Order: sequence, then structure tokens, then C-alpha cells
Amino acid sequence: MASVPSLASTVQQRLAEGLSAALPEAGSADPLLRRSDRADFQANGILALAKQLKGNPRELATKVVEAIPANDVLKEIEVSGPGFLNITVSDAAIVETLAARAADARLGVPLNGSAGTTVIDYAQPNVAKEMHVGHLRSAVIGAAMVEILEFTGETVVRRHHIGDWGTQFGMLIQYLIEHPHELDHTSGDGAEVSGEEAMSNLNRLYKASRALFDSDEEFKTRARARVVDLQAGDEETLALWQRFVDESKIYFYSVFDKLDMDIRDPDVVGESGYNDMLQETCRLLEESGVAVRSEGALCVFFDDVKGPDGNPVPLIVQKSDGGFGYAATDLSAIRDRVRNLKATSLLYVVDARQSLHFKMVFETARRAGWLNDEVKAVQLAFGTVLGKDGKPFKTREGETVRLVDLLDEAIDRASAVVREKAQDLTEEEITERGAQVGIGAVKYADLSTSAARDYKFDLDQMVSLNGDTSVYLQYAYARIQSILRKAGDAKPVAHPELELAPSERALGLHLDGFGEVIAETAAEYAPHKLAAYLYQVASLYTTFYSECPVLKADTPEQVENRLFLCDVTARTLHRGMALLGIRTPERL
Ligand code: ARG
Repeated sequence: MASVPSLASTVQQRLAEGLSAALPEAGSADPLLRRSDRADFQANGILALAKQLKGNPRELATKVVEAIPANDVLKEIEVSGPGFLNITVSDAAIVETLAARAADARLGVPLNGSAGTTVIDYAQPNVAKEMHVGHLRSAVIGAAMVEILEFTGETVVRRHHIGDWGTQFGMLIQYLIEHPHELDHTSGDGAEVSGEEAMSNLNRLYKASRALFDSDEEFKTRARARVVDLQAGDEETLALWQRFVDESKIYFYSVFDKLDMDIRDPDVVGESGYNDMLQETCRLLEESGVAVRSEGALCVFFDDVKGPDGNPVPLIVQKSDGGFGYAATDLSAIRDRVRNLKATSLLYVVDARQSLHFKMVFETARRAGWLNDEVKAVQLAFGTVLGKDGKPFKTREGETVRLVDLLDEAIDRASAVVREKAQDLTEEEITERGAQVGIGAVKYADLSTSAARDYKFDLDQMVSLNGDTSVYLQYAYARIQSILRKAGDAKPVAHPELELAPSERALGLHLDGFGEVIAETAAEYAPHKLAAYLYQVASLYTTFYSECPVLKADTPEQVENRLFLCDVTARTLHRGMALLGIRTPERL
């Protein structure tokens, strides 16, 4: 494993050296290097520096250029405009750097020197409830962040904070006691139960118990008594509660499986997992004065959180009837994650509509000292999935859309696309690729816009072969694989002695920036930056491919060098897509 400094960082380094040699008084001024259309890079830092030193920027720039010793990376540095530097690197430097990347399994991407432990709270559906389109985003964005952070060397602990506790279980359990066969499986004992069947059982039971709860006062009374039993830890009641959790997990896992996501049982620590801590959490908050009793409830107040009437809206940690809610659980989870899991970062991939909740929970934890300079908490808040009409996504009947239906439709649509383009695929391969393309399309559409923004769920656009879609990237990858297969005896070999065409340079320089994009994506929790980078890889490859014949290039060395560029492109796409949770089939 060898990390490879990018050309951008090498150039930056050379400029910084030139700067301090020419102008010792400038200290460690930043040359402010950017990629540029005119040359390979542009440095704008000298303008600000000249202002600061009250000098002539063009003169300073010239002095800096003269102070940079000749070397084989920088081919040309030119002072332009009011005092910018336009920098062109040599073709050989591009190919050599890529060759160093290619020799490394991580493509030369460095590990983060100050990695810590991040607990990611994501993919948190609710027991006995259908997963809907809102649960998609948390799962997809969270899974991508897990992979990206792990790739940078971060220790990642996954937590699926499923909704598995609350008063609704009194009603469900009581109903099951009175209708004991409602969760039985038609497939008979021992046989595997489908997620579909599990969910339809739960749905039916949920609706029936709700109807009874709303219409039958006596049942309501029995259901409420059942909540008390559950909270008291009554064994029979807990065993029935566990059946709901188990049944739901069968369903969750079937959906995650369809999403091609690896969710592991030990990482599912739902709300109930913190029950034993709730009492103590409240005691600690009350004793430290962070929380106070108000009308019987234990509350935390904030100067800047007020209701429409101007009165403060507190975070309620314990209700006046003694019950604990969502906040007490989240505060206990913070204590657990910091103290027991040794987290240095807590990341919550949760709908932006819960931002106020997290703001108050984090602030409370800070006041209590559970979060501090060593441990930070961040909500990676995501926006709403909208229908084509720009309103929150609903079925024609106005109901929330079932996640499974949506995924099935995406797979159907993608399969049609794959079938139409398929040249030498078997029926079985078409089915498999259809799923990979369909699920990839859904994930990519979600990941390619910044999480905070709402986006329209538009399957036509998502499975389109042109434009910023995963299908476009997958086809670029498959096309490269097909070229590599057709190459016969010709192998990808780097030839730094060759002159590069403009589209080869553009592709090469962009591929060289992979590590920087990874670092940025990880630091900012912004998977859309990686998606945008990969799209650019595919676009630059398309240009390269249309301008530079690969197998029919002029000389055998050129064939090898272009195959080499193809190979690094494919490996970058493959790695980057995998970090986003998207497959790259070898043939499409
Ligand atoms: N189960 C919740 C929901 O469906 C999301 C849980 C988010 N995580 C947390 N620690 N509160 O809205």
C-alpha cells in the first residue's frame, strides 16, 4: 500500500517553495492552486500576497517563477493577467503518476492521518411499519458514508436505530394475545418466510388492532395495561414484543437485500436497546441542572427555540406520566456511543424534518458534557423525495409509496433498458444486470444531488443512458471492459515517453485527483461530490474514446498506453461506484 501524491499537491508544493525562496517575508502563504481550463492549473495566491506586501503582483509573480528550480513535473509556468500563474505539467509526469496509482490496490489514495471512530446512525425503519421512500435516503446515504469513511481508514460503527419501542406495542401485543394466529405463516413451520408475507401479516395486524383500539373502549383499556406490562418487563409480554421485532426484521432484511445492502444483525440496536439507561440519563440531567421539572415533565430549555406564540418549546426528556420518549433514547444512545463505543464522531443520517430534535439533543448532550471538543455530533440531514409534480412523493391515491414497489419498478424499467441494449447476454444475466442497473439508478439519483436538497423521483431520467445517471457510468465501465477483452495480446502498459493528446491529458489529470475527492467527500459527509467526480471521469473518458482510437492507435506503444488509461479509468470508476454502493457489471 503506497499513497501517491497527486500532481496538484506536487505543484502546490513546488510553488510554495518558490514563494518562500523568492519572498522570505511571505511566510507560508498559500499559492491557491486550482484546476484551470487555460492551462492545467492556475495559482491566484500571488495577487492577495502582493496586496499585503504592497508590491507589484506581476513582478512578484515573475520573481516566484524564477525561484522555482527546473524539474521534470512542471513543463511551463507563465505569468498572466494581473499576476496569475498558469501552470502546465509535463505529459510524462501525468503518466508516471498514474502508473504509480495503478501499482497500488487503493489507487494511491492516502489514509487519513487523523482518523478516529465514527458511529453512523442510518437505515432506521420502524417495527411493524412498512418502509417508505423516506427510509430510502437514510439507507442509501448512510451506506455510502460507511464505505467512504472506512476507505479513508476511519473506524466505523454502524447503528440501525430502529423504532422498536413505544406505546403502540401495547395495542399490537394485546391484539396478538386475543388473536394468537395472526402472525402464523402460511408456508408452515421451518420453511423460509418471505419479507412480503411478513410485512403483509404485520400490516393486517396493525390495521385490525388500530381499528379495534379506536372503536372498543375495553380493548383500549386492556391495550394500555399491556403497555405497563411491557415497560415493567413482564416476560410473556416481552416474548410477544420480540415476535413483532423478529417478523419485522425478516421484512427489513428482504428490502435491504433488494437494495443490495449489507445490514448486519449486531448493528441493529433499536430504541429498546437503551431502555436500561433512560432512568440514569434523566437523573444525570436533572442533577446537573441541565434539565428541570416543568409541569411535571423533565425538560431542557433553549433561548432560541420558541413556538409560534413566543413561548419556549422545551426538549421533553421525561413526560409528566413518567414515560420516556424519543429524546431520552437519543440522549442515552449518545452516552453509549461515546462511552462504550469510543466514538470521536457521531453521524446521524436523518430527514431534515428532524433537525430541530437533533439540534436540541446535541445541545443538551453538550451541556451535560457528553459531547465536547473531542467528540462531535453531526446530522447529515437530507431533504424530501418529491414526485414528478414537485410535491412530496405519493401514490395516485395519495398514499405514501411503498419502498419495495418503487424498487421493483426501477428494476423493471432498468431490465427493459438492459434487454434492449444487450448483445450477448443470457436471460439470467439480463435479470441480474437489470437489478444492478435499477438499484444503481435509484441510489445514484439519491446520491448525486446534495443530500440537503429535495429531489424528484423520476424513473425515466434515472435509467436514461445519457446524462448524469449511474447507467451512463455503468456503460462507460462495461465498454472499457469490452475493449480490454478485445485487446488480445496487447496489455495496458504506461509509456511516459509518449506525447499525450489533449483529451488524454484531461482524463489523466482528472483521474489523478481521486484521492483529493475522497478526502473532501469524507470530511464534508458529501457523497454527491464523489458522484460528480465519477460522472466527470465517465464524461472525460467518452471524449477521450471518441478522439483517440485505442486498439487502432498508430503504434503498439500507443495502444498499450491508451489501454493503460482505459484500465485506470475503469478501476477508478469501479472503486468509486463501489463506495457509493453501486455495482459495475463487466458486461452490459
Ligand atoms: N426511526 C426513525 C424514523 O423512521 C428514525 C431514527 C433516526 N435516528 C435516531 N437516532 N433518532 O423516523
